[in-house]
Order: sequence, then C-alpha cells, then structure tokens
Amino acid sequence: MRSLILLSAFFAAGFAQTQYTSTAAAAVAKARATALTESPTSNVAGKTFDCFVAIWCENTDYSMASADTNFKWAASEGVTLTNYLAIRHPSQPNYVAAVGGSTHGFTDDTFQRIDSSAKTIVDLLEAKGVSWSEYQQDSPYSGFEGNYVNQETGANDFVRKHNPLISYDSVSSDTSRLAKIKNLTMFEKDLSDNKLPQWMFITPNMTNDGHDTSVTTAGKWIKSFLSPLLSDSNFMNNTLVLLTFDETAVQSGVNKVFSVLLGDAIPASSKGTTDGTAYSHYSQMATVENNWGLGDLGLGDASAAAFF
Ligand SMILES: *[C@@H]1O[C@H](CO)[C@@H](O)[C@H](O)[C@H]1NC(C)=O
Ligand SMILES: *[C@@H]1O[C@H](CO)[C@@H](O)[C@H](O)[C@H]1NC(C)=O
Ligand SMILES: *[C@@H]1O[C@H](CO)[C@@H](O)[C@H](O)[C@H]1NC(C)=O
Repeated sequence: MRSLILLSAFFAAGFAQTQYTSTAAAAVAKARATALTESPTSNVAGKTFDCFVAIWCENTDYSMASADTNFKWAASEGVTLTNYLAIRHPSQPNYVAAVGGSTHGFTDDTFQRIDSSAKTIVDLLEAKGVSWSEYQQDSPYSGFEGNYVNQETGANDFVRKHNPLISYDSVSSDTSRLAKIKNLTMFEKDLSDNKLPQWMFITPNMTNDGHDTSVTTAGKWIKSFLSPLLSDSNFMNNTLVLLTFDETAVQSGVNKVFSVLLGDAIPASSKGTTDGTAYSHYSQMATVENNWGLGDLGLGDASAAAFF
C-alpha cells in the first residue's frame, strides 16, 4: 500500500511537466478544447518603458542580417546593438538562459527539464505584479509542451527548444503559468482586445524565424509583423521591442547576433543609430529587472549590462 502511494505520488510529480506533449489529433483536440488560457494585464510603471517585447529569429550571422533589406528597415526604425553576443550553440541553451540567467547545463536541443528550485524572470515579474505571456507561433494550444508539425505538410512548425520557459518545472508544474504560454492566434486576440501583458516573448514558427528557411524569409515576416505594430496604439504604449537572433549560423568564432531595439520607448532622435556596448542574451533580463526594480536571480542576469 505504502509503495503504491509513493508510486502515485511519483507519477503525479512527474506528470504535470509532460502531460501536454501528445501530438495525436484526438489528444490535441481534447487539450485544445479544455486548455486554460489567461490574458493578464497590469500597469506597473517602469523607469524607461512600460512594456517589453522580445522577438527571436534563428541561426543568422550579424553580417547576414545587417545586409538584408528588411532587417535594414528594422535598423532604421531603432537602435542597432553592434556588440551583442549569443551565449553558446545550439538553440535551446540560449532560450533557456535568456529567461533564467543560466543555461542550466544544457548543451543540446533534446527534451530536458530544469528542477523546480530554479527560478526564472517570471518569479521576479510576478512578485512585482508585472503581467507576462509568451506567444509561440503555431503552438496548438496554451501550455503545449512538445513539438508540433504543420498538419497539412508535415513541416516543422512549433518546437519546444525555442520555447524559453517550458523547460522549467517551476513553470510547467503551474497551470496558471502554462496558461500564459500561448500561440500567436492568442497574441492577435490579446492585441485587439487591448489585453497585452507588460512582458512578452514572441517566437515565430520554424518558417518565419529563418530556421528552416533563410534570413530573407525571416526579414520579410518580421517586417510584415512589426510594421503595423509600430503604429498600433494597443501595442505601442511606452513599449520597448528587442529583435534578436538566438545564435549565429556559423558554429565557431564570435557568436555575434544582429539585435535592434525598437518601439515608442526609443526616442525618435535615436532611430537609425547604433550602440556598441557589450551585451548578451542575459542583458534582456538585466534590462527588465532594472526597469521595474525587480532585483535579480544572482546568475548571468546580475552581471550583464542592461540596455538602459
Ligand atoms: C491557439 O491557442 C488557443 C488557446 O488554447 C486555441 O484555442 C487555438 O486553437 C490555437 N490556435 C491554433 C491555430 O492552433
Ligand atoms: C508559419 O507561418 C506562416 C504564416 O505566417 C505560414 O505560411 C507557414 O506555413 C507556417 N509554417 C509552417 C511550417 O507551418
Ligand atoms: C497605456 O498605459 C497607461 C498606463 O501606463 C494606461 O493607463 C493606458 O490605458 C494605456 N493605453 C492603452 C491604449 O492601452
């Protein structure tokens, strides 16, 4: 009896973090019909901005992005960070580090989980009442924890390795946190309902982020997505957007990625300028922590330079 209880406790503990991974049509339909979705809002005034949005593209060298017509357009709308380094290769450790201040030993893209004692930016944001959400394009429903392919073509679409918070048990074991890991359909809805949160992380699908395509495809999508948002008053309300890439295409040498700060939190006089300060993906956390006085996790975030 005792071992039975222990066994069920073990399954209960392990269950939450992997319960939403099935891609069978029936399981997806069932979860989609019942998945909790939350659209929290808040109005915590920041020092430099009131809303932060990170948008990550994939696997592109600085020189490739800075030569692309549409990324040039982004540069003309904001401040280009000319000395911004990714953390390592391949993708997954960069995403994990950008929200938790550490790669937590990840060196590859395999399915892994980080112990529930590890905190993330979400703990700091929640403690100060700053609302947050992730928007993962083509995730089939809120809180989905696996990988998903295009149901008509079978092409890679939504991947766990590009979903920064999902590997943290402190997020995936909490249904309310899972309910804030949404798809881009929900972004469009939250935008039109004027219910966007103050902290957002947006991951385009494997086509639009350039991973399975090219910097040209990524640039076209970024301009088509961002351009209308830059003049949308539901999006622009003292908003700072960081457009960046997870890592370079080349796997050796300096991991310098093209990054631009945009949005109405950037003064018009700074548009089209550059900033050569040494930044990294940890600067994303440092900036947010500094802006709202959140404190830090004492990890990579504590020593990184903030954008402001
Ligand atoms: C996006 O997520 C919502 C909420 O779970 C779901 O209802 C919707 O079907 C999803 N959209 C797509 C295109 O999968
Ligand atoms: C990614 O999204 C675009 C629309 O923005 C769509 O045309 C494309 O088919 C999607 N990619 C996959 C693999 O489904
Ligand atoms: C903009 O933010 C302020 C608070 O910072 C809020 O009162 C106002 O409703 C917001 N406007 C829109 C259009 O969301």
